[in-house]
Amino acid sequence: MTALLTPTEDTSSAQKGKKTTNALPVTFTSVGRTFTDRRSAHTVLRDISLSIDSGEIVALLGASGCGKSTLLRIAAGLDSPSTGHVSIADKRVTGIDERSAVAFQESRLLPWRSLAANVALGLPRQTPKTTAKERVSELLEVVRLKDFADHRPREVSGGMAQRASLARALARTPGVLLLDEPFGALDALTRLRMQDLVVDIHENTPTTVLLVTHDVDEALQLADRVVVLGTPEHETQQPGATIQRIVNVPTPRPRDRSSTELAHLRGELLAELGVGEAATC
Ligand SMILES: Nc1ncnc2c1ncn2[C@@H]1O[C@H](COP(=O)(O)OP(=O)(O)OP(=O)(O)O)[C@@H](O)[C@H]1O
Ligand SMILES: [Mg+2]
Repeated sequence: MTALLTPTEDTSSAQKGKKTTNALPVTFTSVGRTFTDRRSAHTVLRDISLSIDSGEIVALLGASGCGKSTLLRIAAGLDSPSTGHVSIADKRVTGIDERSAVAFQESRLLPWRSLAANVALGLPRQTPKTTAKERVSELLEVVRLKDFADHRPREVSGGMAQRASLARALARTPGVLLLDEPFGALDALTRLRMQDLVVDIHENTPTTVLLVTHDVDEALQLADRVVVLGTPEHETQQPGATIQRIVNVPTPRPRDRSSTELAHLRGELLAELGVGEAATC
């Protein structure tokens, strides 16, 4: 597969084979979010502190309404925390940030533009035309849409549109890729293929990834660490979700879906999410 960032190989013996990219670390420091209107205040998130290493994939799991998307939006600079802050590398996120890119559950492509033109929208503004053309065609190849460059979004399947959306997010070689249930609307088989594609892309271009998902298997397939948002048992009196549990996934990618190696983690995560009981935030 084409490498997206043309990563260079570090030839020192300790680092041999490891690719270097412009991946950046992300730090959440005591992040909280309370939504207020004239009559009430609703604390959704509280006291979230988490450091994500450069090139790490972290999956964010939690019951519906726990605040996963809110946390991702804060990281993307699309929303502001009520307390605490998020930093990418050493710089605080204070608004939409060029160092990160987001893809959502819906592809959000412009229906009147071709897939190529939609992907081009993700490029930095000043990109010269010829560079842009080359880059778009490289990205379309990475997401296996080379033959559909001129198609409109309505002329392709949901999975293909989602791949174009991923290519658009990757276009400016983000230091941090923020994914909010990017495969949530896809059928099961397409979803598995998309997961493999992300693993493949990350192997070639190991950017930092924060992935929101409802799917325990998806989290275990992709992530280095799985963060469960919720309310720890001893803190049930406090409003808002926080980090309930962090699970390390020790197996290297790509992971064999038929392996039973991760079965115990699957069980633990499902229990953590209260499957079988009434799951609450
Ligand atoms: N702009 C907003 N104004 C008021 N409340 C909001 C706003 N955005 C989110 N919320 C509330 O914050 C809570 C968390 O929402 P969020 O979308 O982050 O949850 P989620 O974990 O992503 O849920 P899901 O898994 O269903 O996508 C919800 O109760 C939601 O109503
Ligand atoms: Mg959400």
